[in-house]
Amino acid sequence: MMNILVIGNGGREHALAWKLKQSPQTDRVFVAPGNAGTAMDAENAEINELDFPSLIQFAKQNQVQLTVVGPETPLAAGIVNAFEQEKLRIFGPDKNAARLEGSKVFCKEILKKGGIPTAGYHVFTDGGAAVEYLKTVRDQQVVIKADGLAAGKGVVVCDTAEQGVEAVLRMTRDHEFGDAGHRIVIEERLHGQEASVLAVTDGSTIAVLQPAQDHKAAYDGDQGPNTGGMGAYSPVRLVDDQKLHWIEENVLVPTVHTLNRNGTPFKGVLYAGLMMTAGGPKVLEYNARFGDPECQPLLMRLQTDLADIFQFTLDRQLHRIGMLKWDERPSVCVVMASRGYPGQYEKGKVITGLEEAAKMKNVKVFHAGTKLDPHGGIVTHGGRVLGITAIADTIAEAKKTAYEAVRKIHWEGAWCRKDISDKSAAY
Ligand code: AMP
Ligand code: GLY
Repeated sequence: MMNILVIGNGGREHALAWKLKQSPQTDRVFVAPGNAGTAMDAENAEINELDFPSLIQFAKQNQVQLTVVGPETPLAAGIVNAFEQEKLRIFGPDKNAARLEGSKVFCKEILKKGGIPTAGYHVFTDGGAAVEYLKTVRDQQVVIKADGLAAGKGVVVCDTAEQGVEAVLRMTRDHEFGDAGHRIVIEERLHGQEASVLAVTDGSTIAVLQPAQDHKAAYDGDQGPNTGGMGAYSPVRLVDDQKLHWIEENVLVPTVHTLNRNGTPFKGVLYAGLMMTAGGPKVLEYNARFGDPECQPLLMRLQTDLADIFQFTLDRQLHRIGMLKWDERPSVCVVMASRGYPGQYEKGKVITGLEEAAKMKNVKVFHAGTKLDPHGGIVTHGGRVLGITAIADTIAEAKKTAYEAVRKIHWEGAWCRKDISDKSAAY
């Protein structure tokens, strides 16, 4: 029996803690800093995800045998190196390998070296040179990306060259994304449906998860500003078994191989954000962790012991996991958000109806931006507040069940997209 520490405070971390708690190997599951949901399904430790000395001290004092990192920021800051220096077992890539997500330039270089399908690109450190370059691309549409982490906001998809120039200036002249915009990538704009393919790797074996699809735009019909993700579902018909196999062979295998040859071996979750173009799947980006909210429907479907997956990865024995087992039934996760999100949002609103929703079969309400109110009850504490996740025989049925649960839950200003998973019927 072991104690596990999950780092982070979102819906992804609630889902990880909930799943790990079900493992027969698990004794206590801690989440640092966690939210109201993880306080109920696990135990919270009030420690910031970037306070490595306190996290290490907590792990030692509480006999934590395995730590799992949810978000990208501590990975990019080297949490894995810090834990490993203390001989503590921790699941996730080290600081060098996490650059796959932390630096778009590094990611593009790996993709190029590996001959992995992705959009053509150029790197600039000088805004003037970037603007000059944009004059030469004429009507070809471009995407401008700040090199560093920018909480999903450092990417501007442009319809016109003028928009491209404006984005370049915001990043290089106005320093809108701080140091993250010190270097920028200008790449060719791709068209098609997006899908997320995640895999766990120990640096040699790759265990591919079922495909999922996120909904990044704030409003129905993919309108409005970008968000962290307003909902997700799995599986995705667009990525059938044959396509998934193709992606494994032509994207994931060469990525792991190239990272090894580069001297930056990767262990943890490789998350490929893909555009399914007319010319085949192409990588838009890599993340070095589970997706949020993709993690929620994926873990609802996963039947293999998640603690085993992590332990084998750390032992470099992932081949022993065999084929991952899945509930064949699809799962849909609908995110409920605070008024104002993804801009300035409200906090501290009392949430009602959680108990009624919890009584529903085949539904799990994952918490993200929630907090236990010292006066009792649960209040909102973030932009994305809850991820209502349902599993059923069909996607349509899972969607219907998830929205039934959504209707039971209330707070002032709560809203969600109404069309999560509809894309599955559109192609
Ligand atoms: P990233 O952070 O690189 O995933 O970019 C965020 C979002 O921007 C992606 O999910 C896509 O919707 C969009 N995007 C990124 N790169 C491209 C591209 N080359 N062509 C079209 N859309 C893109
Ligand atoms: N759902 C997108 C992400 O986790 O980056």
